[in-house]
Amino acid sequence: MSTPQPSPESVAALVAQFETELAQARTARDAQSVRDRYLGRKNSVVASWMQLVASAPVDEKKNIGRYANELKQAVEARWTRYSESAPDAAPAGAVDVTLPGRVPALGHRHPLTVVRDRLEEIFVRMGFTVVEGPEAEDEWHCFDALNMPADHPARDMQDTLYLATPITYSDNDRRTLLRTHTSSMQIRHLQAHQPPIRIVVPGRVYRRDDLDLTHSPAFGQIEGLAVGEGVSLADLKGTLLAFAQQMFSPTSRIRFRPSFFPYTEPSAEIDLSCWQCDGAGCAMCKKTGWIELGGCGMVHPAVFEAVGYDAERYTGFAWGIGIERVAILRYQVEDIRLFYENDLRFLEQFPY
Ligand code: DAH
Repeated sequence: MSTPQPSPESVAALVAQFETELAQARTARDAQSVRDRYLGRKNSVVASWMQLVASAPVDEKKNIGRYANELKQAVEARWTRYSESAPDAAPAGAVDVTLPGRVPALGHRHPLTVVRDRLEEIFVRMGFTVVEGPEAEDEWHCFDALNMPADHPARDMQDTLYLATPITYSDNDRRTLLRTHTSSMQIRHLQAHQPPIRIVVPGRVYRRDDLDLTHSPAFGQIEGLAVGEGVSLADLKGTLLAFAQQMFSPTSRIRFRPSFFPYTEPSAEIDLSCWQCDGAGCAMCKKTGWIELGGCGMVHPAVFEAVGYDAERYTGFAWGIGIERVAILRYQVEDIRLFYENDLRFLEQFPY
């Protein structure tokens, strides 16, 4: 704002403008800055007129000085009146918009959820559908149909958590339990669908284990199942390799180690090349260069028979991987319990 030349009109106009600006001030701070622009020692309206007085030719000094003084007194008088009537300048209840805002703390996903979401995303991109199933299961879906007969050790009370209240299904009365693996959903899905099938089943499973560094009585798994005509072990390996390279490192490799599961033939343990040392051997992989990820194999014909599929026509592969296991490897966390204690100092380290 350039200050007009001193005159009776400009005095009146500036006083009126000062009053308008003062009336518009929302806060004490606003009002003070209006005052300073008119009355401040330096660069204010009044100060600039005082400077004009000093530099004016002798014959004009008197007039200019008079206007400058009039302006100064009028503005001061209004400022006094204003500050006495409104000691804190802001109308009652007004919000001080000049205060810095309060930033609300934003939450974020739990690291296990981040890993689960990422797993789903990778497999969905490969054409798998995400399905979920019941955690309270019956033993037929969890064991019998998966070729684990009644005398199988996993069915022992020592290993499996049985439910006191049986869930009664229309077709049968079966002992109920908390599923020990997501493999039970293979059966439910095969029963309700026809090939081609490509699903992943993330979810919680339960075992009679004590909580320690590497075990938990409840943990997450992600099951995979693909069934169709001509589905081969090479497809299984290719799928898991693509997964490993997206989840861990583009240079990750996988290795199958012969193993045994009643519901697959052949069966294998999935080993991942240690993504920290790239196979050279380090503390993370206990100097072996490889880290165990989970189990897999080709669907056993007995499983197809249990769900009424033609085992001559269809083949399939399946795998089961622990979600905590992936999180532990991905984030290099050594103690599984950290994921369950919900200590924000831990959880906040994975805000992605
Ligand atoms: N159910 C196994 C477990 O809980 C993991 C597993 C192994 C799942 C082989 C599979 C499979 O589908 O084919 O340890």
